[in-house]
Amino acid sequence: MPQAVFELPFWRAFLANPLRVASPVPSGPALARAVAAEVVPGGSVLELGPGSGAVTAALLARGVARGDLTVIEYAPDFCTHLRHRFPGLKVLEGDAFAFPGLLGQRQFKAIVSGLPVLACPQEARQTFLQRALGALAPDGVFIQFSYSPLSPFPTERDITVRRHTVWRNLPPMQIWRYARA
Ligand SMILES: C[S@@+](CC[C@H](N)C(=O)[O-])C[C@H]1O[C@@H](n2cnc3c(N)ncnc32)[C@H](O)[C@@H]1O
Repeated sequence: MPQAVFELPFWRAFLANPLRVASPVPSGPALARAVAAEVVPGGSVLELGPGSGAVTAALLARGVARGDLTVIEYAPDFCTHLRHRFPGLKVLEGDAFAFPGLLGQRQFKAIVSGLPVLACPQEARQTFLQRALGALAPDGVFIQFSYSPLSPFPTERDITVRRHTVWRNLPPMQIWRYARA
């Protein structure tokens, strides 16, 4: 079963803050590719919680221009790592749940989140989903990957939701895609 590769910096970050990092290993290549496949290159993309950059690398490989991609990561060590790994990438250090405060008014074609949202109370998740949908261009999508087979966000009628499972991940991961109906 293909799985994420062990990375010492990731393991260290996990030990330092298990609740925030949420996983001892980064996303594996199959998952990272499947997440990136949800994004159509050609427009601004925001990645929240990039960690060591597994999904970032897949987004760039998918054809997202480096200049179109902004990432927001909380852990300073990951930010340093990302700046070395992807020179020229816009790496913002801060709380991605409050991303509009870091970015100002912007519209994204896609927002991709690997944030550990299940640890948040339901109300905070609802606020975050609305915030993400509110920062999308009219044809934009919000992608969240999560182990939960149920939507990690409460959804309403004016939101379209799609899910698919990446079986080649241990345990299988759900990729959730939200857009305004
Ligand atoms: C499960 S890891 C996913 C890492 C990476 N996206 C991957 O797929 O390998 C969660 C990441 O979100 C970051 N994170 C958690 N809470 C955050 C927050 N409030 N703001 C920014 N980053 C956060 C963690 O530091 C960690 O890098």
